[in-house]
This record gives sequence, C-alpha cells and structure tokens, in this order.
Amino acid sequence: MAMGDMDKIRLSKSSVGDLEKEALARVIDQGYLGMGSFVNEFEEKLREWLGGGRYAVCVSSGTSALHLAVESCVPPGSEVLVQSLTYIASFQAISAAGAIPVACEVLPGTCTIDIGDAGRRLTERTKAIMPVHYASRTGDLEKVYEFAGRHKLRVIEDAAHAFGTIYKGRKVGSFGDIVCFSFDGIKNITSGEGGAVVTGSTEVAKYVMDARLLGVEKDTEKRYRGIRSWEFDVTHRGYRYHMSNIFAAIGICQLERLDSDFKPSRQRLARAYHDALGGIPEIMLFQNDYSEIIPHIFPIRVLEGRRNALKEHLLENGIECGVHYYPNHFLTFYGGRGTDLPVTERLHGELLSLPLHPGLTGAEQRKVITCIKEHFCD
Ligand SMILES: Cc1ncc(COP(=O)(O)O)c(C=O)c1O
Repeated sequence: MAMGDMDKIRLSKSSVGDLEKEALARVIDQGYLGMGSFVNEFEEKLREWLGGGRYAVCVSSGTSALHLAVESCVPPGSEVLVQSLTYIASFQAISAAGAIPVACEVLPGTCTIDIGDAGRRLTERTKAIMPVHYASRTGDLEKVYEFAGRHKLRVIEDAAHAFGTIYKGRKVGSFGDIVCFSFDGIKNITSGEGGAVVTGSTEVAKYVMDARLLGVEKDTEKRYRGIRSWEFDVTHRGYRYHMSNIFAAIGICQLERLDSDFKPSRQRLARAYHDALGGIPEIMLFQNDYSEIIPHIFPIRVLEGRRNALKEHLLENGIECGVHYYPNHFLTFYGGRGTDLPVTERLHGELLSLPLHPGLTGAEQRKVITCIKEHFCD
C-alpha cells in the first residue's frame, strides 16, 4: 500500500510557527509587503549576529546572492573554480554572471574543494574560486584563502549549508572575501525564499545593493525610509532580486530561534545518527565536530555498491532520502561528462542523505536507524 504524504518521514522541512505568523501579521498591518523596514532590520540583525564590521545585503535567494557576488567582481568570460559536487545553483549563478564554472574534485573526507586539483585547472582566465561548504563543513578554508592569495583570485564562499558554522573560532561570514547564504525553505534558517551576500568590501556591497534593485543607484536607502526613487541614474545591469518585507519578517524570527531551537536540535539529531550508525561496516560516516556546525543535511557514504538498495528500502518504508548531489560535470550544459573527476563520481554512487530537520521526532529518527540496521543485517 502506498504511504500517504502525511505518514512519510520527511528528508527536510521548514520549521515555522506562531512567532513567524505574528511577524507576518505585523507586515500586513504595516501595509507594505515589498522591500522596506523589515529588510533593513533583518540585515542589521544579521550584521550584529556576525559580530559587526561587515555588510550583509539580503536578496531573493541564495542563487541570486551567488550570481550578484560573482558579477560584482569577476569579468565576463573569466573562469571560476568550483567543485562539481554541489547544487546546480552554484554553477548556474556563475553562468548567469557570464563567467565559466570549471568543475573541480572534492576531498572524500569532507566533500569540499580539493585545492590540489583546483590548482591543476588554473589558467590565465581564472579569476575566482567558489568553495562550497558541503553539509555545513568548510574544509580547510585557510588553505583556500592561501591559494587564492597566491593566484590573485577572489573567493566567493557558497555558504548555503553553513549558516552557523564556526571555523577556527569564528562564524562563517564574519571573515573572508564574499560569503553567500541561502534562506530557502529548508535551510538552517529560512525566510521562505531568500539569501544574503556578506562582505567587507564596500565596492561589492554597493554593487549588490544596486543590482538587486534593477541597478537603480542608492535605491536601498530610500526604500528603507519608505520612499521611492523617481529620478535616478543606472550605471550597470540590474535585476529584481531584492528581498521583500514578508520574507525578512520570517527571517528575523528564524534568526532569533537559531541558538535556542534549531542549533541544539540539528546537532542532537546528527550526533544520534552518528552514534547509532558508527558500527555498520557498509556505512562510512563523515567525521564532524558537531559543536562547530549546525548540520543542514546528514549525508552518509554507503559502500560496496549498496546505496541504491538502501535508498529503495528506506523509500518503501516511507522514509525520504536524498543524494547531494548529481555532479554538475555530468550535465549537458556543463560538458556532459567531458571532465574526468573520479572521486566525485565515486562519491555520487555512495552518498545518501538521511532525514534531518528540527521537527524530526525521536521516534521517527529511531525508525530510520532501525530500517538501516535491518537492511544490513538481513
Ligand atoms: C550548495 C548550495 N548552493 C546554493 C544554493 C541556492 O540557494 P537558493 O535555493 O536559496 O537559491 C543551495 C540551495 O539549496 C545550495 O544547497
């Protein structure tokens, strides 16, 4: 018998409730749903949360954050080094900016960019590197910045998974060249849809602020005061990529709930998986310090060609699971397997993401664990 959607154990899910509902009512009462004071407030709270001294510019999605970040500092036709094992958004954002994503290998222990491999793909046209903080891990970010410094590359961190990650005692986003977050419906915090570009660069921040509002110069300042530009200048391309008050109001609530609610629940669930699945020979777990990340997803490696059978078994038992990700160099638009990336290809056959979200109950998680154990004991 097919399971109803309600009975399924979800891979991921938004955690929103009364706090968000009340905030939305305040936006509606205020009478302006577009970009205004709530976006200003969300940006201020993000800056404060990151420790101050940086720009945080909110946009309509993580993808638009990456797009504008690349466009702000990478000339069209340039190459950007990026791991193939990432969401299609990283690649499309680079393409949208008129640049060329160059697919690189990942390190199998972290699924973060392999700098040795990236170095072999450098050309005169390489202008930036986009490390993706896969499953909330940054990998050796110091090495990425050292490599970028040596080759005069901009660094655009795809931190869609890494809201709340601590690297060497500092929050991701509180340092570094340009850091892009996603607040889509299932991320560590959500604003419904949304994203942010965080940077210390005035030039980049100014570009993103104007480009998100069709390139209209200094429109942001006016919108935060509730007024509109009627006469203005435009000096570069722009998009309708701004964030709305509706999204920002949800984001503000979610930021408030991060430390008390989402962080402990995601860390507890990830630790519980880790403790329960550690002894299964067919499963390889990623080693994480769970006090330093807020796990966005929980991928495992299933060895000996047994991933697909486990995936089917879980699905038959009403448990959703995922594969993060289908390698981008497999896609027709990105060369259709024209590049040889053996580590990425092996990982793609092994990776399986288990349900992880703050609403996952203890009973649901025990069912996932039991199903996995049963599968390998038979
Ligand atoms: C690694 C990665 N990069 C970029 C994005 C794009 O973010 P958004 O969905 O907010 O556009 C995502 C979202 O899933 C992601 O996982």
